[in-house]
Amino acid sequence: MKLVLASKNEKKLREMDEILSSLGIEVISEAQAGVDVEVEETGTTFEENSLLKAKAVMEASGLPAIADDSGLCVDALGGAPGVYSARYGGPELDDTGRYRLLLENMKGQPRGARFVSVITCCFPNGDVLTARGECHGTIAFAPMGEGGFGYDPVFFLPKLKKTFAQLTPEEKNAISHRGLALRAFREKLEEYLHSGKGES
Ligand code: IMP
Repeated sequence: MKLVLASKNEKKLREMDEILSSLGIEVISEAQAGVDVEVEETGTTFEENSLLKAKAVMEASGLPAIADDSGLCVDALGGAPGVYSARYGGPELDDTGRYRLLLENMKGQPRGARFVSVITCCFPNGDVLTARGECHGTIAFAPMGEGGFGYDPVFFLPKLKKTFAQLTPEEKNAISHRGLALRAFREKLEEYLHSGKGES
């Protein structure tokens, strides 16, 4: 079975394909499916946004489509930046600008935070599968590490005494919100396929 990934991100495609290939699933890009879908992420939850993306690509391609939506939720900021993680502080900021702004906004605040990832798969028959992964940590007082992307240098794991940016990709995948969501999704998909529903 082929699943179209609702994203232009090559890294996400490889990551998902690696995890789902054991089920005989091939994850293909929008370009490989012959579609180019721009989805406005108008939802206020990760669930809504990942559904918007997966549904739009499923409808355009006629194939089952998978999307993920993720972000960093900081307790002291009422869950912000949350679904707005990629847009925090406005379009002129880059990754470094965004985490610097976050550190600024957190001065004197408790440091609890979590990364969230929600994966949604929409099938042409109307079926929808969803899986969620969360990784709990704290916001560091200063950036540490060179790896990863986004807020990785300031997301600190007290048990490991390292930020996400100080982990290898394999170490990060083993505990990250996206790794957890993907593995939970793989289980749900396996169950779904064994039930025979995916063939209708
Ligand atoms: P999206 O799910 O591709 O829309 O990404 C949401 C945004 O959340 C990214 O642009 C990053 O700012 C942030 N984000 C999501 N996952 C991670 C991660 O694993 N590390 C660092 N930042 C992340």
